[in-house]
Amino acid sequence: MPKKRIEKVGGHDVLEELSIGMDRVKTNIPGLDKLLMGGLVRGRNILLSGPCGSGKTTLAMQFIFNGVMDCDEPGLYVTLEERKDKIISDMANFGFDLKRAEKTGKFYLLGGPVAGISSYMRNVDANIAHILREIEEIVKEHNIKRVVIDSLNLLMLLVKDQEERRRTIAAFCNVLSQLGCTAFFVSETKEGTMDISRFGVEEFIMDGVIVLYLVNQGSSFIPGIAVRKMRGSDHDKKIRVYNITSNGVVVYPDEIMLSEKDSLL
Ligand SMILES: Nc1ncnc2c1ncn2[C@@H]1O[C@H](COP(=O)(O)OP(=O)(O)OP(=O)(O)O)[C@@H](O)[C@H]1O
Ligand SMILES: [Mg+2]
Repeated sequence: MPKKRIEKVGGHDVLEELSIGMDRVKTNIPGLDKLLMGGLVRGRNILLSGPCGSGKTTLAMQFIFNGVMDCDEPGLYVTLEERKDKIISDMANFGFDLKRAEKTGKFYLLGGPVAGISSYMRNVDANIAHILREIEEIVKEHNIKRVVIDSLNLLMLLVKDQEERRRTIAAFCNVLSQLGCTAFFVSETKEGTMDISRFGVEEFIMDGVIVLYLVNQGSSFIPGIAVRKMRGSDHDKKIRVYNITSNGVVVYPDEIMLSEKDSLL
């Protein structure tokens, strides 16, 4: 465990990590922890971006599911994209039994299709603060340690202005960090681009960025994964190969996706 010290800076309490060895949160996703030098840094927020079908939901759910089943860490998955029953059935396809996870009392699946959010939109008084407050309450009540927001793009439908978007994303990150949660924010990127976020601000706010690429080579798409940034930690800097298998996402940490002279970064 890292040593921690509370300091007063400008009237605010600042939690400073003085650790030599960081407190790591193991994803237990095959191969990924090796790219992360042992795991994610506890309490940090990570942007997980990639094009459609690249495995963002699968990878993010593995992080939560493994936390609940292997590490005794309660997890919250907020899906704004898919119906709950659909995500439960899709994940069963990979062997992630979310109903069994729910029975442990440590797994919480919140949301549903965009309908959940649009009901907020229809409510004149509604604003994004309501959603954040609801998440905050669940985290506190159930001692949640791992959170996924799938997806940040849909959440941002509620926010029209770029400056407001930046503030909102920062607010989500700060609240979850202060509650000690390690969080993935899922972000869809445009097909065939090397963009790492939708609005171009997300990657600067988050502590870490993991990008999934699908690179067109001949008649197929080659999946690549890169840890683009991880504040406070060293990490692998290359684009590695990954695959979506019948057991979920598997990363091949020793296989480089492209030859050294090619670069996507
Ligand atoms: N049993 C399986 N074995 C191998 N691959 C699978 C299996 N089931 C699904 N897949 C692959 O996983 C992909 C879906 O992954 P996932 O939903 O995690 O991607 P995503 O990046 O979240 O997509 P979206 O952008 O649509 O939300 C499918 O398109 C398919 O290629
Ligand atoms: Mg998805």
